[in-house]
Amino acid sequence: MKSVHIVTTIAELRAEISRWRGKGDSIGLVPTMGALHEGHLSLMRQTKNRCARTIASIFVNPAQFAPHEDFDRYPRTLESDREKLSGTDVDLIFAPSVAEMYPQGFASRIEVGGPSQGLETEFRPHFFAGVATVVAKLLIAAMPDFAIFGEKDYQQLLVIRRLTADLGLPIEIGGGAIVREVDGLAMSSRNAYLNPEQRKIAGRLNRILGDAAHRARSQNAVAAQEEHARSELLCAGFDSVDYVAIRDAATLEKIETVARDARILAAVKVGGTRLIDNMAV
Ligand code: PAJ
Repeated sequence: MKSVHIVTTIAELRAEISRWRGKGDSIGLVPTMGALHEGHLSLMRQTKNRCARTIASIFVNPAQFAPHEDFDRYPRTLESDREKLSGTDVDLIFAPSVAEMYPQGFASRIEVGGPSQGLETEFRPHFFAGVATVVAKLLIAAMPDFAIFGEKDYQQLLVIRRLTADLGLPIEIGGGAIVREVDGLAMSSRNAYLNPEQRKIAGRLNRILGDAAHRARSQNAVAAQEEHARSELLCAGFDSVDYVAIRDAATLEKIETVARDARILAAVKVGGTRLIDNMAV
């Protein structure tokens, strides 16, 4: 198996892309922080189906971690990620250093309003500015025709759609369905932190959200089902619930009844690990 070529600088990335553009190839980009799993690989496949060339970026972005968060501990597995990608149709890995993305003197930050407000932002106020800044840099560096993000991070997907529209970037933003383990746990690089007992508890999140979504729809009750789901999560063994919320699926605004498309979203902690999940109501 031929291993996928890795470039580490924006200049090399652009040189490769301009060669492909010269041949008329379309370009797709899949931004990741590595520790790749089937959720990431499904985004690569969806991109390959649409674009002649697929680029995976792998960059653990310090700007989206608060000082007390897991930046130092986040799994960095570039060689095994490269092996996983060698079994796919990914054409190129862009794996820049922190200094390449944030050179000495870097002083800009992109703040997105709208869908950034609430939910994750209440608990990780630094997060979406960090994501928006790095994603804008990646999109501008590669200028792909298409870039895809997972529904696993549903609020992030809406923030990136807003960012791309607001900056007028001529890039289509795709959303990939959540890939789950057999018991329903959404695949995540952070699942590696869970011990067997915590892993068992983690597997209950998806079912509890599914039940709450079902009840919210059939009884048209939002606040009551949010409360009910919160207490079920605590009973199921989660140590804390940052939020469990049923929101408008397009804007993430609060709703009182399930009249339009809605989404249930949650963030919980088990042990020291924070897990998020969501689904259509
Ligand atoms: P990361 O957590 O590595 O995820 C990379 C992409 O894979 C994101 O778009 C995420 O939503 C998607 N993804 C993760 N788990 C998934 C699953 N189980 N099913 C489907 N898609 C899944 O999200 C980030 O990195 C970063 O914030 C990033 C966008 C790269 C900016 O740094």
